[in-house]
Amino acid sequence: MYERLAEHWWDPRGPFVMLHWLAAARARLVPRGPGDAVLVDLGCGAGLLAPHVHGYHHIGVDLSREALRQAGKRGVSTIEADVLAVPLPDGCADVVVAGEILEHVPDLTGAVAEACRVLRPGGLLVLDTLADTALCRFVAVVLAERVGLAPRGVHDPALFVDRNALVSQCARHGVHLVLRGIRPSLPDLLAWSTHRGRPVRMVPTTTTAVLFQGAGRKKG
Ligand SMILES: C[S@@+](CC[C@H](N)C(=O)[O-])C[C@H]1O[C@@H](n2cnc3c(N)ncnc32)[C@H](O)[C@@H]1O
Repeated sequence: MYERLAEHWWDPRGPFVMLHWLAAARARLVPRGPGDAVLVDLGCGAGLLAPHVHGYHHIGVDLSREALRQAGKRGVSTIEADVLAVPLPDGCADVVVAGEILEHVPDLTGAVAEACRVLRPGGLLVLDTLADTALCRFVAVVLAERVGLAPRGVHDPALFVDRNALVSQCARHGVHLVLRGIRPSLPDLLAWSTHRGRPVRMVPTTTTAVLFQGAGRKKG
């Protein structure tokens, strides 16, 4: 599906618009790197994160060849691979990012294990994804598709992420993951609904039951 919709990745009014807002919000959890640090972006898509992170050698891993081609144009070093079998050595990354990918992978345990494997001790894991709740199924599928914030059929709710399982899988690999809920700013969303094209800020919210971010450092 991502391959089919690939022409829309960088369209600020297109079906991936919310991914642009999420990339900006995700990048706020990534400190500026020293220049030679390595950031591995799992499920990087077309590299929407690239304009927002600085001071890293940005390596993107994805299955979609066309998305990777576009990410390459944004300065991302690309690897065509499954996030469940990342062809990178253990502990090679100072930062591992998994933005809006875990809800597309049928093996959460395997994906978390790979993310934590490539992360060096002391390195930072940053992610965002969708929670396995009835509220999320309604908001992220029914509502988001209806208002054009998600392409139709892009999400399989059966793959939405169990937050307790995610936190405990990360802990097994030495990463103490802290979660926080996020949502689009309502005034921004209102403005966007009349003048599409303006970016919408993602803001913290009290619940992690829909869309949430996670961040944590690996012990060591
Ligand atoms: C929702 S998009 C997120 C893209 C990017 N992280 C962003 O936030 O802009 C999901 C991406 O994951 C990729 N993907 C899905 N399953 C994958 C897998 N098993 N291994 C690697 N990439 C995968 C898709 O091709 C798509 O580019």
